[in-house]
Amino acid sequence: MEQTATRSWVSLTFDREMSTAEVEGMKRSLGARTALQVPPAVGAAYARARQVGFARSCCPEVGALMSVLSAAVPTGGRILELGTGVGVGLAWIVHGLRSRTDVEVVSVEIDPRNSAVAAGAGWPDRVTLVVGDAKEVVPSLGEFDLIFLDVPGGLKASLFDDAITALRPGGQLLMDDMNPYWGKGRTRLPLDGNDPERLLEDSRVACARLGYASGMILAARLPDRA
Ligand SMILES: C[S@@+](CC[C@H](N)C(=O)[O-])C[C@H]1O[C@@H](n2cnc3c(N)ncnc32)[C@H](O)[C@@H]1O
Repeated sequence: MEQTATRSWVSLTFDREMSTAEVEGMKRSLGARTALQVPPAVGAAYARARQVGFARSCCPEVGALMSVLSAAVPTGGRILELGTGVGVGLAWIVHGLRSRTDVEVVSVEIDPRNSAVAAGAGWPDRVTLVVGDAKEVVPSLGEFDLIFLDVPGGLKASLFDDAITALRPGGQLLMDDMNPYWGKGRTRLPLDGNDPERLLEDSRVACARLGYASGMILAARLPDRA
């Protein structure tokens, strides 16, 4: 029987800044073709998270995708993050927007200590940090073109419906931490055991699983039927 060579992809994350020379050296020694580089403002956010011992920030691969999706938000658009943490995801979103001033960004966090750490970073005027329970505040926040649903486990599943309702037609929603094998010492199933397939079958959205890094579900809101 003919054997087909398989190629695997491995991504490494380092808990410190590395110079370009170090990254290039690492690529050479590992035979890697690419390495994801973290922009300086986002690197500062990861450093802040390490300083306060916050270990639940999104990984660089997820953040980089949020940057791209943020860049694609239409003129005058709105972005919502559920679960600010200490501001790493927000730094990726703001990086994606570059100098755009037409996009409003709202980020919701239930823990005032986390939100205070995030607020300490200083954000452009178009960014608003809200302290509150996403379950309570989402229905009053209006409509969005992009939502990063990044609260823990089962809460993600219970917020999915409200988040889809808050999406404008064509708007996109990203959920991470869908890979049960991601992260050392993970003790909880993604969505706390709620079935991701049920979310994928919601008739208001088109969904895709993205299997790399922490594992994601990306959904786009379909146009409302007449
Ligand atoms: C995975 S972390 C968020 C990481 C952040 N999005 C980032 O990428 O840096 C999840 C956050 O959700 C917050 N959280 C938990 N329950 C919440 C709720 N009901 N409403 C809003 N935030 C909540 C937690 O306090 C925690 O900071």
